[in-house]
Amino acid sequence: MLTASLSVEKSAVWVLAGSVDQIALGQGRCFVAGKRKIALFRLRNGEIYALDAVCPHREGPLAEGVIGNGTVVCPLHGYRFSLRDGHGVDNHSAVNSYPVATRAGMIYVRLPGTA
Ligand code: FES
Repeated sequence: MLTASLSVEKSAVWVLAGSVDQIALGQGRCFVAGKRKIALFRLRNGEIYALDAVCPHREGPLAEGVIGNGTVVCPLHGYRFSLRDGHGVDNHSAVNSYPVATRAGMIYVRLPGTA
């Protein structure tokens, strides 16, 4: 178990996702990194979160969801997911969440190297 976790950590890479200014405050935006679609969310307090962009229910576009109270609401059927860890708030689904860092106005997302 520990070995597998270390392996994932070693293969993780920081990917440039764009500039902070490309995401309006209180909004989400989708970006593609390899085969992954990542939804970035910029809260009004400046925090930025990254989740898988595709809802596990019926593939709704999570980047277009409404954010608030630490969650994003899927625009198709209303499933809510925690912005911090991707767990379903009122459902048994979950999406992957990814570490985010900002530097000089740019957003970087740490993704598994197998993306
Ligand atoms: S597709 Fe997201 S809740 Fe149904």
